[in-house]
Amino acid sequence: MVDDSRSTGARATRPYPRAAAWDLAAYGRFGGERIRPFTELLARVDAREPSRVLDLGCGDGTATALLAARWPGAQVTAVDSSPEMLAAAAGSGIPGRLTFTAGDVRDWQPDSPVDVVVSNAVLHWVPGHPDLLTRWAGWLAPRGWLAVQVPGNFRAPTHALLTELCRSPRWAAQVGDAAPSPDAVLDPAGYVDVLTSAGLRADVWETTYQHVLSGPDPVLAWVRSTVLRPVLAELGDDDAAELTAEYAAALRSAYPPRPDGTTLLPFRRVFAVGTRPS
Ligand SMILES: C[S@@+](CC[C@H](N)C(=O)[O-])C[C@H]1O[C@@H](n2cnc3c(N)ncnc32)[C@H](O)[C@@H]1O
Repeated sequence: MVDDSRSTGARATRPYPRAAAWDLAAYGRFGGERIRPFTELLARVDAREPSRVLDLGCGDGTATALLAARWPGAQVTAVDSSPEMLAAAAGSGIPGRLTFTAGDVRDWQPDSPVDVVVSNAVLHWVPGHPDLLTRWAGWLAPRGWLAVQVPGNFRAPTHALLTELCRSPRWAAQVGDAAPSPDAVLDPAGYVDVLTSAGLRADVWETTYQHVLSGPDPVLAWVRSTVLRPVLAELGDDDAAELTAEYAAALRSAYPPRPDGTTLLPFRRVFAVGTRPS
């Protein structure tokens, strides 16, 4: 069930750096690796019987379903701006319990206080998101919870190599602006400051997962559905193929295959959970 009454299809603003379509098959290939941070984030949220739960930037609804299962008495509202993601989520709605809504998390707001706000792997797409966190903290009812997770790998070779490539003389005019920013997210201490300044008790940590990947160019396969996606969206097919080949070669040297043929992708993530005191 998707409520598109707040659809952002015609908005003047758009998710950063542009509203490139999501490739659900490519994104889903690493579904196991991607859901784990969500469950580890949720494990630190000790809300007992919340009535209202929000999932902001809910994606295809896979993670949202875990929220509905964890709190069967809650009304869960899930918001996303991607038509592809919402189309995939549509079948997971539960009348009266779990609703998917089209909206931009930068300006969507609930009509009453909420008990739990979750946003997993979303805020790195939203420049200036610390201010947004402060606004979300203001929605919390007493003893409410705010829980977010962001990738903390914007200085890792995956991202640094892509930024270097996008800003090279060959590509700067076409995709210089689509290069990932090394400052897309804060360090853990920055989130402690944001949450405590918003009046919440903060629990912030980071984890570096060692993903063991297989198959040809597995790191490219991973980033193709994430950080590379908005870059390729700026290019025609031939240019996209040329840039991808250059990037793939750089990734192969930065992440060489191990003796057993697998490839290790260290992936840092930053988790921030805040509670409003009663
Ligand atoms: C990496 S996916 C994560 C999806 C989900 N939270 C999960 O954990 O599986 C990021 C999601 O954030 C959404 N998103 C990014 N910027 C957004 C914005 N400004 N407003 C609403 N959704 C946004 C994307 O459309 C995408 O579905």
